[in-house]
Amino acid sequence: MGGVARVLCLGLVAVLAASGCDGEGTDEGGVGIISAQALIDLARHSPSPALPAPPADASNQFADNPAAATLGHKLFFDPGFSGVLLESDNDGNHGGVGRQGDTSKVSCASCHVPASGFSDDRTVHKQLSLAAGWSNRRTPSILDVGHAKILMWDGRIDSLQRQVLSVFESPLEGNSSRLFFAQEIARRYASQYQALFGSDPAVVLGADYPQPAVTGTGCQMALTTSTTPTEECTNGTRSGVPGTPDYDALNEAQQQAVTTIALNAGKAIAAYERQLSCGASRFDAFMHGDESALSAAEQRGAALFVGKGKCADCHTGPFFSDQKFHNVGLFPALVSAAFTRKNDMGAEKGLAQVLTDPLNVRGIFSDGDDERLPSSVPAGMLGAFRTPMLRCAALRPSFMHTGQFRSLEEVVTFFNQGGHKQPGIEPAPIIGFLGETEIAPLGLDVQEQADLVAFLRSLNGAGPAANLLLPP
Ligand code: HEC
Ligand code: HEC
Repeated sequence: MGGVARVLCLGLVAVLAASGCDGEGTDEGGVGIISAQALIDLARHSPSPALPAPPADASNQFADNPAAATLGHKLFFDPGFSGVLLESDNDGNHGGVGRQGDTSKVSCASCHVPASGFSDDRTVHKQLSLAAGWSNRRTPSILDVGHAKILMWDGRIDSLQRQVLSVFESPLEGNSSRLFFAQEIARRYASQYQALFGSDPAVVLGADYPQPAVTGTGCQMALTTSTTPTEECTNGTRSGVPGTPDYDALNEAQQQAVTTIALNAGKAIAAYERQLSCGASRFDAFMHGDESALSAAEQRGAALFVGKGKCADCHTGPFFSDQKFHNVGLFPALVSAAFTRKNDMGAEKGLAQVLTDPLNVRGIFSDGDDERLPSSVPAGMLGAFRTPMLRCAALRPSFMHTGQFRSLEEVVTFFNQGGHKQPGIEPAPIIGFLGETEIAPLGLDVQEQADLVAFLRSLNGAGPAANLLLPP
C-alpha cells in the first residue's frame, strides 16, 4: 500500500471493509505492515495537518499572551526566588546545585533541564532531583505540559500557575515562600509585572508587609552533616506561607495581594511552559504519507501499540495520554538507599488535596473554571498515577513516578509482565503497591517487545525553538 493509498484508506473509514485497504501480512520492504484498522487507530495519535497547540486555559487569561510568555521565560531560569539549600547531600558529590546553606540556587530549569527534554539528568539518581532537599517522586518532563489540565503524578494541582507556588513553598524544592516570591517580583520585576497585570507590585506590597531575607524564609532548620528536610519541615520552623506567623499576621486583603502577585507570576511562567513542545516526529511523517519515515520494526511496534499491546487503552490521543489516573501495579524499588517510596497513595490523596485547595481553578484566584476537576475523588484512585505523555519519552533518563526504570526496554518488559503482581519476578520486589492493578500480562514475544521499544523511540520530535532552551 503506497502513501497515497494509505491516506485514502484513512479517509475512507466507512468503506474500508470493501476497499482492499487491509494490507496486513505483506511484509515487503516495510510496506503494508500495519492493518487498516490499526492505521485508523493510529490516526487518532497524529491528527492532520499538525499537532494541536495546547487547548485554551480558562483559569489563566494570560495563557497565550506573548508578553506574559516572555516574562515567564525569564522567571523560569531565575534562581533568585529560592531559599536555603537544607539537605546535607548538597556536598558536591550528588549533582546538587550548590552547597548546604547556599541560597538562591534553584530555578525551574535546575530540575526541568532544557537541554535534556526538560527532564532532570543532573542529579546522581536521575530525575529524583536534589535541590533544597531530595524530591519524593521523579521529575517529569514538562514538554507538552500545556495539554494536561490536572497536574502532577497524583493530580494534586490543577493549574500551571498554582504549580509554581508549590515549588517555592516546598522545603524539598525551592524552599522559600509565596511572600518571598512576591516580594522578589516586586523588587526585581516591578515594571514588567505592571505592564502585564496593571499594578505596581512594589507599591502593593508596601511598608506594611514583611520583607523576608532570603535566609529567613521557607523552612529553617539546623544544618548538620545529616540534615534531611521533609515536605512538612519537620524539626524546623517555617515562614512566609499560610499557617506561619508572618504570613498569618497579614489581614485577608494583604494575603490576597501576596497570593495574587505570586499567582500572576505563575501565570507568566505558564505562558512560557505552554510553548514547550516535543514536536512532530517520524511517526507523524509516516502517518501523513511518508512511507519511508518508519522502519519495519517501528511500524510493527506502532501496530502493537494500538493492538495486542493495549498501550492505547491509556496512552491515547495526539500526546499519548488520556490524562487520567491508573494503577499499573508498580512495586516501588530501591532507587538508592534513601529512596524506596513506600505506600504512595497516588491520586486517592492527590485528587482529595486539589478538591480542597483554595488556589484551585474553582477558587477566587482563577480566571475561570472549565470544570476540569471531578466533583469528588473517583473510585479506584488508590495507587493510581497520571498516564505520562510519550512524545520524546526516549529522552528521559528514567521512567515511572519512582524513576526506577532506566530504559524503555525495562518499561515494556514491565507492561508485558502485567506489572509486578505476577509471582516469581526477579529481582524480588522490596514492597508492594497500594490498590488494585488494572493491567494483565500481554504475552508479547521478544521481537514484539523490541518492536514496541523501536516505536517509542520514533516519537522524538525536534523540540522547542532553540531560544526557548536558554535563559533570555
Ligand atoms: C527540585 C526539582 C524541581 C524544581 C526546582 C522544579 N520542579 Fe517541577 N517538578 C518536579 C517534580 C519532582 C515534579 C513531580 C512531583 C509529583 O508529581 O509529585 C514536578 C512537576 C512539575 C510539573 C507538572 C508536570 C506534570 O506533567 O504534571 C510542572 C508543570 C512543573 N513541575 C513545572 C515547574 C516549574 C515552572 C518550576 C519552577 C517554578 C519547577 N517545576 C521547579 C521537580 C522540580
Ligand atoms: C492502564 C493504563 C496503561 C496502560 C494499558 C499502559 N500504560 Fe504506560 N503508563 C501508565 C501509567 C499510569 C504510567 C505511570 C505509572 C507510574 O509511574 O506508576 C505509565 C508509564 C509508562 C511509561 C513511562 C513514561 C514515563 O515518563 O515514566 C512508558 C514508556 C509507558 N507507560 C509505555 C506503555 C506501553 C508501551 C504500553 C503498552 C505495552 C503501556 N504503557 C500501557 C498507564 C498505562
